[in-house]
This record gives sequence, structure tokens and C-alpha cells, in this order.
Amino acid sequence: MIEKNNIELKTPRSADDAEAIMALEKENFSSPLNAPAVAYLVQDESCVAAYLDGELAGYAAFLKGPFSCEIMRIAVNKKFRRRGIGRAMLRALEEKAKGFGSESLQLEVRSKNTAALALYESVGFMRVGLRKGYYRDPADDAVLMELDLTGKCVYDARVN
Ligand SMILES: CC(C)(COP(=O)(O)OP(=O)(O)OC[C@H]1O[C@@H](n2cnc3c(N)ncnc32)[C@H](O)[C@@H]1OP(=O)(O)O)[C@@H](O)C(=O)NCCC(=O)NCCS
Repeated sequence: MIEKNNIELKTPRSADDAEAIMALEKENFSSPLNAPAVAYLVQDESCVAAYLDGELAGYAAFLKGPFSCEIMRIAVNKKFRRRGIGRAMLRALEEKAKGFGSESLQLEVRSKNTAALALYESVGFMRVGLRKGYYRDPADDAVLMELDLTGKCVYDARVN
């Protein structure tokens, strides 16, 4: 785990941040965001980046909806993985979403992405649906997941 002193979580702002996010996009996603999309993220309150000793180690972002926020991206530089950065960024997005008055955080994830599935389940996301054959390049199903932010919702079924 990362000591709180070592990790800084904040909205990315600089051209260097944009460059680091572009590199993570290209490395981790088959359809990376383009430069204007990244430029938008790098100033928006719905994006959080994690810095270790001043270096951007990862970033995460969601889209705000009227009742829920949808996580659209999360990635951590390979050399900084399994140190709690992904979880810390998800917690930061959770707090932001609560601040916006959202009732839930939602996302979709490749069924074969075991690291991401384990990360989401480790912070309390539940599997609420499955879209068969949703992804291409490579082909995969999408697992739909949701984290209740109200404390009122009790899920009574898991979808595998
Ligand atoms: C998924 C990802 C963001 C996780 O980031 P991370 O900083 O390494 O995650 P954390 O260190 O916070 O892990 C938190 C928990 O998630 C689970 N987890 C994370 N990576 C895992 C792995 N490779 N295998 C199994 N469990 C894993 C564990 O439960 C872990 O807790 P633990 O280390 O105490 O056992 C990172 O692997 C990544 O950038 N992947 C490529 C991009 C991607 O797939 N994004 C998701 C798209 S939906």
C-alpha cells in the first residue's frame, strides 16, 4: 500500500499531464482517446490523477449523469501497479460523485480483465449485468457493474 504522504490525488492540469495520459491511453486501450478528448479531461473536475513524487502514475475519469456517474477510464502505469493507486483513485471518484449528488457509480468492463474486475469488486462494485459480445479487438463480453452511493440499495442477485 502507498503511504498517504507519497501519493497525491488531484485534477490533472498541465501539458505534461496530457502527454502522460495520452501515453497511458495508447498503452492500455484498443480505442485510445484522441488529443482533444484528453485535453478536455486535463482540466475537468470529473478526472483525477495520482502522482508519486511528482510523476503522473495513473488517472481515472467519469461522465456525470443526472442520477449516476459512469466511470469511463482508469489506468495505472505498469511500474506503479499493485500499490493501491487504482483503489485510491476510485475512492476519490466516489467522493466526487457523492459531491455531485449521484446515487451510484456505474461502469462496464471486459469480462477477461481480471485485474480491473478484482479492483472494482475490492471497493464494493457489484455485477449487475452482462452484454454478450459487446467488445471487439479483441472480442469480449462486457460486465456491467454498479456501486451504490446512497447506502439504501441492497442487491439481491449477482450476474455471472
Ligand atoms: C486495473 C488497474 C487500474 C488496477 O490498478 P492498480 O493500481 O494496480 O490497482 P490497486 O493496486 O489499487 O489494486 C487494488 C485491488 O485490486 C485487485 N487487483 C488489482 N490488480 C490485480 C491483478 N493484476 N490481479 C488480481 N487482483 C488485482 C486486488 O484486489 C488489489 O488489492 P490488493 O493489492 O490489496 O490485493 C491496472 O491494472 C491497469 O491500469 N490496467 C490497465 C487498464 C485497465 O484495464 N483499466 C480498466 C478498464 S475497465
